[in-house]
Amino acid sequence: MEELIMSNREILDVCEDIGAKLKDRLAKQDGVPVMVCVMKGAVNFMVNLMEALDMDILTDYIQVSSWQGTASTGTVTLKRDVTHRIKGRTIIVVEDVIDSGITMDFLIKHFQEMGAREVIVVALFDKTFKRKVNVKIDYVGKVLTEDKFLVGYGLDYRGLLRNVPFVYVPSKDELESWDAIIEGR
Ligand code: IMP
Ligand code: MG
Repeated sequence: MEELIMSNREILDVCEDIGAKLKDRLAKQDGVPVMVCVMKGAVNFMVNLMEALDMDILTDYIQVSSWQGTASTGTVTLKRDVTHRIKGRTIIVVEDVIDSGITMDFLIKHFQEMGAREVIVVALFDKTFKRKVNVKIDYVGKVLTEDKFLVGYGLDYRGLLRNVPFVYVPSKDELESWDAIIEGR
């Protein structure tokens, strides 16, 4: 590990904090909101956040892809769509990291096209300085001001490390050891 970015305790505190704010905001609305997890990276965050949100919500999952290894490709493909009705409902999109903003821009437009009443965006991390398209993020766990590649708590390197309960910056040696695992050496 090169640097710890967020401990599990800090992550749970973020979930409590954002959960309370969301509850306040949603309590004034009619109809059930749909909380949508952006697979696969936001799965861990989604679980803790939905448990911290003490109210009736529908939960759903969407899968898109734009990243390969440690870099974004710039084009977003929809791999799996949501199954609940979106039309007329408030959608809370739960994402792990916002980087260029291309993925979230795609998702916001996707839910708007499906007739969402409102799209609320929640992200655990925001790499604001990497933005290529302007997107409105409503709630953020932590803003990052340096370009770092993160793993753990849903964030992966080639599919590994999602099961680690905290977020950190791996060393070059760690990345190489994971390459060896993936390539079966
Ligand atoms: P964007 O479309 O460039 O904003 O990229 C956002 C997507 O990239 C998110 O869904 C993340 O899963 C992924 N991503 C961004 N930064 C990292 C990182 O540091 N580690 C792992 N995945 C990341
Ligand atoms: Mg992701």
